[in-house]
Amino acid sequence: MRVVLCGFGAVGQGLARLFESRADDLYARFGLKPRIVGVADSGGAASDPSGLRAADLVAAKAGGRSVAACGGRAGMTGAELIAESDADVLVETTASGYEDAEPGMSHVTSAMARGMHVVSANKGPLALAFPSLMELAAHNCVSLKFSGTVGGGTPILDYAKNSLRGERIVSFRGILNGTTNYILSGMAGGMSPGEALEDARSRGYVEADESLDLDGIDAAAKLTILANWVMGMKVTLPEIRREGIRGVGAGDVRRAAEGGSAVKLIAECDGDLSVGPREVRTDDPLCVNGTLNGISFVSEHSGTQTVIGRGAGGTETASSIVRDLIDIRGEMASR
Ligand code: HSE
Repeated sequence: MRVVLCGFGAVGQGLARLFESRADDLYARFGLKPRIVGVADSGGAASDPSGLRAADLVAAKAGGRSVAACGGRAGMTGAELIAESDADVLVETTASGYEDAEPGMSHVTSAMARGMHVVSANKGPLALAFPSLMELAAHNCVSLKFSGTVGGGTPILDYAKNSLRGERIVSFRGILNGTTNYILSGMAGGMSPGEALEDARSRGYVEADESLDLDGIDAAAKLTILANWVMGMKVTLPEIRREGIRGVGAGDVRRAAEGGSAVKLIAECDGDLSVGPREVRTDDPLCVNGTLNGISFVSEHSGTQTVIGRGAGGTETASSIVRDLIDIRGEMASR
């Protein structure tokens, strides 16, 4: 399987390492033999039809250089790389934001137009255009997969879509942003909002644009993807009612604790789609702390089930990309 990577940060590098460390296992168990034929980062791109070595790519980044240093071209963009590539799959991991989701949006659409399958760990394009991207994938007879966009390596989307197949999920609510959960957990432990935010920043948990975490934008993007994929809704990010955690004070957290609850940033689908601070009973399985994510699905016949796990991290998210590639490999083999 020829793979082109757009974006080579923690997730892209984690994936390249997994390709090497798990090569034998992936081939023996799944017939998956990924070959990185192109990589683009913000400084340039490199390509080689016979395969780039993960160790060289990772070493370039560790030395503060672009992947272009691996025999590539400085300044070459991801769009140019895709236009020249004959890869089977694009793995999109750029940081694209939520204004226009560029450059990820163009990467995803141009790759599909060229007949490539796409795995996106980038939430931006899906949050802004899920319904039309799925139509584009169907039109071009390619797969569009995105397991890593919700829950990092924790298979939240898979669980709801596949493990609960045949069930009717009537509602769900989840803690989908680890950073705000860490901050609220710190406040529950006695920190002021400012101290808890500083603690999260010092551990590198807070996004460069901290509004994505603090104003609930990241959680709303994940809710949008869940609503489309799990509930069959056709919605985009601007339609989500959203409030972040900036208005949560020490008094709110203390009052919740006195009543046996904790304040959590909850993304909810219950007729309506919303993100906002809510009180959750401390004996509810959903009431997870630190950077953990959790989501409770309420289904018609099998009751309420809660999935808990780490919701971020380079290797964790890379492992969900590997799951998607295994699925694509199976689909390619059965065509
Ligand atoms: N900022 C996100 C979080 C990263 O805290 O959950 C993972 O999407």
